[in-house]
Amino acid sequence: MVNELKYAARQRGEDVIDFGMGNPDQSTPQHIIDKLCEAAKDGRNHRYSLSRGINGLRRAVCAFYQRRFDVDLDPSSEAIVTIGSKEGLSHLALAITEPGMNVVVPSPTYPIHEYSFIIAGADILRVPIHRDRDFFEDLQNAVADCWPTPKVLLVNFPSNPTAQVVDLEFYQKVVEFAREHKMWVISDIAYSEICFDDYKAPSILQVPGAKDLAVEFYSLSKTYNMPGWRVGFAVGNQTLIHALTRIKSYLDYGMFQPIQIAATVALNGPQDCVDDIVAMYKSRRDVLCDGLAAAGWSIERPKASMFAWAEIPEEFKKMGSLEFSKLLIKEAQVAVSPGVGFGRYGDDHVRIALIENEHRTRQAIRSIKRFLHAGGDTQAD
Ligand SMILES: Cc1ncc(COP(=O)(O)O)c(C=O)c1O
Repeated sequence: MVNELKYAARQRGEDVIDFGMGNPDQSTPQHIIDKLCEAAKDGRNHRYSLSRGINGLRRAVCAFYQRRFDVDLDPSSEAIVTIGSKEGLSHLALAITEPGMNVVVPSPTYPIHEYSFIIAGADILRVPIHRDRDFFEDLQNAVADCWPTPKVLLVNFPSNPTAQVVDLEFYQKVVEFAREHKMWVISDIAYSEICFDDYKAPSILQVPGAKDLAVEFYSLSKTYNMPGWRVGFAVGNQTLIHALTRIKSYLDYGMFQPIQIAATVALNGPQDCVDDIVAMYKSRRDVLCDGLAAAGWSIERPKASMFAWAEIPEEFKKMGSLEFSKLLIKEAQVAVSPGVGFGRYGDDHVRIALIENEHRTRQAIRSIKRFLHAGGDTQAD
């Protein structure tokens, strides 16, 4: 609905500043593009590739985990390349879901976390995730009240949409809980490298024994500005990796090989491009949070991800996140994502993606300030 309003406003010639979708606005680092072009010129790369990903890329994935998290992985049995992490998440759900199976998903969350399992035929148990709540207490209660006991627990930190982060101790508790209840854990760390200040996101696989029950999905989309390339991977538990490998072997032949070769270069090559990307999001975050605070809308400063999860100002809270987002487009020409789109526990927030540059962000803040001072009706100004 917000997208439709955005397009309609643009058709009318209005300049809508768009913080809606989590779609990086910058191009992929040049050395990765160069490798793609070089590999595309070699006819040997035009054949069907390997569904689970070429060996070199799976080795690069494992080397990244070793370097970044000090986690040992076997490239042949504990790693698989996916066509973006979204594809991998969806097909893993399809591979492991049995009729009547329950799956625990945090709420609010990135929609495919629950829809992958809904499409596969599972029932979803939503556990609220909020900085003022005890996630494990809510999880314990939800699971105790649920029959049959859920088979899968999904976690995503740094979170989309809430930007909430966790430490290794959190994952230790997740692993303990999953072991006690005989559950698989699927962790999604699409934003693990987009961290600010002195925060560094951990991996669940750093917990001793996590590989007995967990897989983790990672995406190159945000770390290397490669969303359109569709490259992700999953690592960890051999049974789950095998299930995903098996189903993908029926469904696809892997990505175009030059993309896999360029993705290998992304992981193995110089990482200063990642530092530049992180610095850009950090600077946008600061402009946004400082600017909104000065405009009278104080929001939490995210420690990671490319999102700010902004609590709706008190005077607009009653209307809910969808109506508030619609009003922001109409009156301030600023598009954000309504929190309710990520689950009902998100309805008192909107998600602001850091995908506009600093100049555009300042322009949006000026409009939002006018909007807030006019009590939501700029035409009355
Ligand atoms: C939490 C999370 N997981 C996964 C994805 C999908 O990433 P990919 O581009 O690798 O499919 C996204 C994309 O926005 C995301 O926010």
